[in-house]
Amino acid sequence: MNPREKITLSTLMARTRQGRKITMLTAYDYPTAQIQELAGVDCILVGDSAAQVVLGFDSTLPIKLDFMITIAAAVRRGAPSALLVGDMPYLSFNVNAEESIRNAHRFMAEAGCDCVKMEGHARIADTVRLMSAATIPVMVHMGLRPQAVHQFGGYRAQGRDARSAQRLIDDAKIMEEAGACALLLEAVPPEPAKIIAESTRLPVIGCGAGPHCDGHVVVFHDMAGLTQTALPKFVKRYGDAREQFRRAVEAYVLDITNGQYPAVEHCYQMEAGEADKLKASGSA
Ligand code: KIV
Repeated sequence: MNPREKITLSTLMARTRQGRKITMLTAYDYPTAQIQELAGVDCILVGDSAAQVVLGFDSTLPIKLDFMITIAAAVRRGAPSALLVGDMPYLSFNVNAEESIRNAHRFMAEAGCDCVKMEGHARIADTVRLMSAATIPVMVHMGLRPQAVHQFGGYRAQGRDARSAQRLIDDAKIMEEAGACALLLEAVPPEPAKIIAESTRLPVIGCGAGPHCDGHVVVFHDMAGLTQTALPKFVKRYGDAREQFRRAVEAYVLDITNGQYPAVEHCYQMEAGEADKLKASGSA
């Protein structure tokens, strides 16, 4: 039973025109997707941040396309009405056109995504154009691009000087012309983000890009308090999930150690008279 109407790219375009903010979070599994669906999150990003958040790698680079497809399909099962964005992992696109389209097709056809996300700047415009022509909607992730961490020399905010801010603004235009369905700006100061949001018809989703974007996304584990490491400056914590899970696990360990669990109410009962028969047979 799903009382909510399906969120589509047209919904996002309409929201953007109306100035109604779009909500987006990452999810990597079925139960988290169910929680987000229930809570009314508009869009769910199956981000390649799963490499760090759920697999424990120190960057997003090692994650595999097959794994991304598997978890994206699980998230779709948990959140049938959210707009689902599949994140194309490192070098799963832009190596050549055919491979990019084939890989993006898997997100759409096997996982049930509504669009894919690709990190890039003006130089991926041809890929965006080809995807778009092949009926694959593409959200372009600009600003801090974690897949380019080695080129950037670390995870650094982008567009902090006028020249690089202007480059981002120009790239946003190029992406719109190439047929992108939305933009995502990560770690960009509010000034260029505002100019981009005001100068494009596309929904602009900010991830640490100030208040003027059409919508906002952060990593679920960061905002829910599941992450152990230091959070990026732009994340606001809304929960203490790590501490709550820890307390639950400690209580479980203590109960077993003290013989408090399992109790009678956790046991299956033998059929009437069968325990006596078992005893009489001499086994007990
Ligand atoms: O992979 C991811 O989670 C992302 C967000 C940080 C925007 O790309």
